[in-house]
Amino acid sequence: MPVLAPSILASDFTNLSQQIRLVEMGRADWIHCDIMDGNFVPNISFGPIIVEAVKRITKLPVDVHLMIKNPDNYIENFITAGASIVSIHYEEDVHLNRTLSRIKELGAKAGVVINPSTPVNSLKDIAEYADLVLIMSVNPGFGGQTFIKNSLRKIKEAVKLRGDMNANFIIEVDGGIDLKNVSNILSAGCDAFVIGSSIFKSEDITTTTLEFKNLISSEKKIIT
Ligand code: DX5
Ligand code: ZN
Repeated sequence: MPVLAPSILASDFTNLSQQIRLVEMGRADWIHCDIMDGNFVPNISFGPIIVEAVKRITKLPVDVHLMIKNPDNYIENFITAGASIVSIHYEEDVHLNRTLSRIKELGAKAGVVINPSTPVNSLKDIAEYADLVLIMSVNPGFGGQTFIKNSLRKIKEAVKLRGDMNANFIIEVDGGIDLKNVSNILSAGCDAFVIGSSIFKSEDITTTTLEFKNLISSEKKIIT
């Protein structure tokens, strides 16, 4: 079943528990948390304290996307805070194999993220160790950006890589997803959809979440 993962980066932090309740009522599957350090990306968001608060608010899995330098140093903090999935950037970790193993040993699912300029092929030798591959469809750092079109090709390449390597990672896509492009992203082979602004900046958060949920749950016609 495709996964809908609203990103709270775009939510109203003055009322986080209510915002999470609204996407839960819209049948969201995971809660996506964007961790930015003002160093790996030119923006600062929040850290393990908020992840821990999210964990207390919801029973849904907490999907943590680390856009930080030296992610190894913080993995344990985020898993202790309640992360079910921890994804680290390929561009920042030179010992990916070790880091992914460590995430799993600590009891979470391990994901690897690639920026728009990083080829899918870079993941060839790590594919079988990853539970999830996150394809950035915008340059990370900010919500509300426009979906980069060639990400569709990258999703298809990830589907092929998964088959070729006999791997079984989930393909997640993050950035610029809206009600108009979501069906094409599904058709390309995306399994998990991270959606920030299109949900949290909409008039009716629950109705919009449900709309996305219905669109991604419709029959997946893979276009190669
Ligand atoms: C970007 C973040 C995304 C972002 C998505 O650096 O990783 O998760 O919150 O937001 P939208 O859907 O607004 O592009
Ligand atoms: Zn993200």
